[in-house]
Amino acid sequence: MCGILGYLGNKNGVPLVHEGLKALSYRGYDSWGIAAIRGKETIIQKEVGDISKCAPMDAHSPIVIGHTRWATHGGVTDNNAHPHTNNDGTISVVHNGIIENYHLLKEALLEEGYTFTSETDTEVIPHLIDFYMKRGKTFKDAFARTLKDLKGSYAILAMHALEGIHFARNGSPLILGIGDNEMFVSSDIPSFLPHTKRIITLEDGDYGSLTPLAITNKGKPVKREESLAHWDLEVAKKGTYEHFMLKEIEEQPLTIRKALNQPCELIVKATQLMDTSTIIFVGCGTSYNACSIALTHFVHAGKQAMTVLGSEFESVLPYINNKTLLIAVSQSGETADVIDSIKSAQKKGAKVISIVNSPSSTIARLADLTIPMNCGPELCVLSTKSCTSQIAILMMLAFALQKKDIGLLKEAADTALHVIKQTKPQMQQLARKIANERSMFVIGRKSLAHVAREAALKIKEVSYIHAEGMPAGELKHGTIAVVCDGLPVIVFADNQTRAHTTSNAMEVKARGAFVIGIDSKPSHAYDYHISIPDIEEATPLIALLPVQLLSYYLALERKCDPDKPRNLAKSVTVR
Ligand code: G6P
Repeated sequence: MCGILGYLGNKNGVPLVHEGLKALSYRGYDSWGIAAIRGKETIIQKEVGDISKCAPMDAHSPIVIGHTRWATHGGVTDNNAHPHTNNDGTISVVHNGIIENYHLLKEALLEEGYTFTSETDTEVIPHLIDFYMKRGKTFKDAFARTLKDLKGSYAILAMHALEGIHFARNGSPLILGIGDNEMFVSSDIPSFLPHTKRIITLEDGDYGSLTPLAITNKGKPVKREESLAHWDLEVAKKGTYEHFMLKEIEEQPLTIRKALNQPCELIVKATQLMDTSTIIFVGCGTSYNACSIALTHFVHAGKQAMTVLGSEFESVLPYINNKTLLIAVSQSGETADVIDSIKSAQKKGAKVISIVNSPSSTIARLADLTIPMNCGPELCVLSTKSCTSQIAILMMLAFALQKKDIGLLKEAADTALHVIKQTKPQMQQLARKIANERSMFVIGRKSLAHVAREAALKIKEVSYIHAEGMPAGELKHGTIAVVCDGLPVIVFADNQTRAHTTSNAMEVKARGAFVIGIDSKPSHAYDYHISIPDIEEATPLIALLPVQLLSYYLALERKCDPDKPRNLAKSVTVR
């Protein structure tokens, strides 16, 4: 969470960093701030709220750092917004991550007479650099010395009028962008994509300076390979759409196809790795739901397989050994809980396949084999196209184990186009009807039970309506107690599950619920029917689409920002 960006070059970096921060605001948008060097002075602009609604300060500077915040330590206030400075304002710092020992460091600095203006963990960093500089170290050495004091995860940029920008990475992503006579350093590529595609991905433990470019690790100079970013700038723009969410929902016929378009040898290698005794799928949020949706296909392929949430991974550690394959699924490739899971599984000898959207991400680099999702930048905080790409790839792997043709999955990509077109006006109408509800339930059986969970997650993330997704058969074991007159219940059913699921739908209908059926066939159980084709095992891939659209329109009806829901961040780099 939090995005950081630094610029050093021959242009005015203020509007450039301001623009770049907008592309990073998916990482957090509680507040934002920019520090710029003007002569020997550092000038700062900080504001609470959405950067896209604010203009950059009227200043000209070739050396600038910026930050977009997802609050961890300290509330959402101007004072807690980054950049933070030392007491005379000569050193400014932006930080992504958590300094776990900041309390101790702060106490020591307070005793030394330093004054703090924020409640953040970050503010200890400029004071520490200042502390070491006052004891005779250069800015460069004081920065390196400060890093030794810090415990936790971080990507840090520290700026000084005479010394330019220094950077450090430990557990949070940091990438260099190399332009013509200009350098960028950022949490993610889209922030500098309009200026350069040449990148260097830093490793944990790397620190250094932007100009001249120098990278050090464990006290020794290191050389990191340069590569070209694969992002397409046009995909990272809204085009004619008002929101990324709708654009990304509508991209799915194409992105499902791209997900399935993997080199044959990659799938062969993955199949060889899957020839282990147990497969454990790990993910968080939507990525976890994608794993759960696909799980049954691996079980049917004869594999012992289970899913586990990244944050609960410790509970399965006793099962893991050198015959375990971990399949780590993550859009960003930077989710801390998944990174921790991989590291602890690798210590016990497990092999790892990652399914990520960013091949330069930490998770991809930790894995033995990476299958790229190829769905292009997903800039709405909600996962939509990345979810169907993950499901498509996972199902393709399960099909590969069974030596089954993937024609059915390719068909899903074509059907997706039809489903989006057909259900869009209906979802707009339904959103108007149920926008004022306070709560709803979503049910289904087998894979569709997990589709129901993902559908409920979409609804609550973006519209803030309480929504609970669960297996249809489980409803009667407690939850049915809260069903009352008019409560919307969304029901997913297909040819395999319809008989039992519609009985459950009747049970809630009998108690006054407003039943919305997403099914290829109508049923007297449904008060509102959304027709989608039944494409056998691939149905979950398309069943999600109407609810993604419904969530989008619910957000609009309720005047919520679909791209930036409150309290959320797209890339969760804290535990
Ligand atoms: C955050 C996002 C979710 C996402 C989850 C996992 O919580 O808000 O939309 O599903 O992280 O992210 P990942 O990048 O690992 O797929």
